[in-house]
Amino acid sequence: MAIEQFAKLPTHVAMIMDGNGRWAKKRLLPRTAGHKVGLDTFVEMVDTCSDLGIKYMTVYAFSYENWNREKTEVDALMTLMETGIRRYTPEMHRKNIRLHLMGDLSLFEEGKRASLLACQEELSGNTGMTLSICLSYGGRQELVHACNELIKEGKTEITDADIERHLYSAGLPDPDLIIRTSGEYRISNFLLWQSAYAEYYFTDVLWPDFHKEELYKALHDFEGRKRRFGK
Ligand code: FPP
Repeated sequence: MAIEQFAKLPTHVAMIMDGNGRWAKKRLLPRTAGHKVGLDTFVEMVDTCSDLGIKYMTVYAFSYENWNREKTEVDALMTLMETGIRRYTPEMHRKNIRLHLMGDLSLFEEGKRASLLACQEELSGNTGMTLSICLSYGGRQELVHACNELIKEGKTEITDADIERHLYSAGLPDPDLIIRTSGEYRISNFLLWQSAYAEYYFTDVLWPDFHKEELYKALHDFEGRKRRFGK
């Protein structure tokens, strides 16, 4: 099948994967059923972005605030994400994808953290698309973490660059396009620093229904955006 053509593509696309719970509720299924289908959508998005030649992709998989959900949902999500990433790692390797985990992984159960870090390590030499997965991530927590690191360095005055080198995203370009599914018009503590000049795309489509044709719509919309960076 011919690959979709674009006049310009974002270097870095980020996605807030929202609406799994509502997708399941509409079908009278448990919320975890929505997360399972959401994992399939995640894999489809990674494959599609990598095939398009997008250099950086970031997804918001589990926020700092998500720890406050029911324990059964948190446990199910942890298992789904850890097994999902582990099983998908050989395929990511074939696609030359590098994995970058962003967030406070110290809150993870030891076995799951070790498994996720092993996947990151296995893919660390790859030179294709960099896939960042935000897990136990919050933009405010990331900024506080960066400030605390600078205090430890003994800084009394800081610059943008000082903060940037202590963000979980250090070394990555800022996102050009941030997509949020499910009809919610919020940032929800996602990439607060990095999104300063990002273009946003919101869609009512729920994450489990966000297939590649929906991604193409977002990318075509981005093609028409005039970016001014404050100029
Ligand atoms: C938000 O929808 C979604 C999540 C909190 C989980 C996202 C996780 C996945 C899509 C699995 C991806 C897996 C990997 C390996 C990255 P919600 O539950 O808040 O939905 P709702 O707003 O409709 O209740």
